[in-house]
Amino acid sequence: MARCFVTRQLPGPALERLAAAHQVEVWPNQLPPTRQELEQHLAGVEGLLSLLSDRIDAELLAHAPRLRAISNYAVGYDNIDLTATAARGIPVGHTPNVLTDATADLTFALLLAAARRLPEGIEEVRSGQAATWEPTHNLGSDVHGATLGIVGFGRIGRAVARRAEGFGMEILTTTSNSHPAAFEELLASSDFVSLHTPLTPATHHLIDAAALARMKPTAILINTARGAIVDQNALGQALRDGVIGGAALDVTDPEPLPPDDPLLGAPNLIVVPHIGSATRATRERMADIAVDNLLAALAGQRMPHQVPVAG
Ligand code: DGY
Repeated sequence: MARCFVTRQLPGPALERLAAAHQVEVWPNQLPPTRQELEQHLAGVEGLLSLLSDRIDAELLAHAPRLRAISNYAVGYDNIDLTATAARGIPVGHTPNVLTDATADLTFALLLAAARRLPEGIEEVRSGQAATWEPTHNLGSDVHGATLGIVGFGRIGRAVARRAEGFGMEILTTTSNSHPAAFEELLASSDFVSLHTPLTPATHHLIDAAALARMKPTAILINTARGAIVDQNALGQALRDGVIGGAALDVTDPEPLPPDDPLLGAPNLIVVPHIGSATRATRERMADIAVDNLLAALAGQRMPHQVPVAG
């Protein structure tokens, strides 16, 4: 029986399976453990089930001398320093596939909400400002027939493309292997640009002032990937100056965005709190996979969804 630490309560029955096999402590609070609390709780722990909000690096691992498996409750693992885990020989697991469709659904919800200006319409009705049906009021952009640029054409990018086909959209795509000219062409030609690439040193601030300047003045940027792929200062400026038409973000840097962050004062902006995978069924499946990964590694087996070690 190994000691395990789970950094937040998870939905569904998965943690019961972990507790049946191991000695499990679950962090009971809504807010994540602080760095210091995490360090303290990892002292004798062999298995860690972490969230994307837990930063795991060499310094933290030094407080966990017995740690031998990390299972991240997310498909992304940019919160984990893989060089540090590899140096200790600690396998890292993640939860791909099961959140692909939920995240693609939310991408489309944001795209439609921004294109058809749903937040303003909702607010007008609630505040009693919707006076009458007006021919020139609340005009948005067509989604059907528009061009969608998908940056990152992996599982989620492809699932977004399938939805876009149903809307009769023209689809442009780039991947990390695309020629820079293809990325520039996608930015210049798309009515909607949707980000689906992992956060890596190469994609950090991929959407900067220069990229935004290449986009159409009517274009809408959608980000359901990772906040730091977008330079948020540049985005705020671009929205204020009308360089692009709007943005809809599920992810920000940091998360959550403080209510006084200047970005939130920008026009034509929708921000939701990282809810791409937030359906009950999806989050329960993620918990199942995260537990399967941890159980396998603690039994000395390869995790069913183990992150490849680079190099
Ligand atoms: C992930 O899993 O990486 C998503 O961003 C959160 O579900």
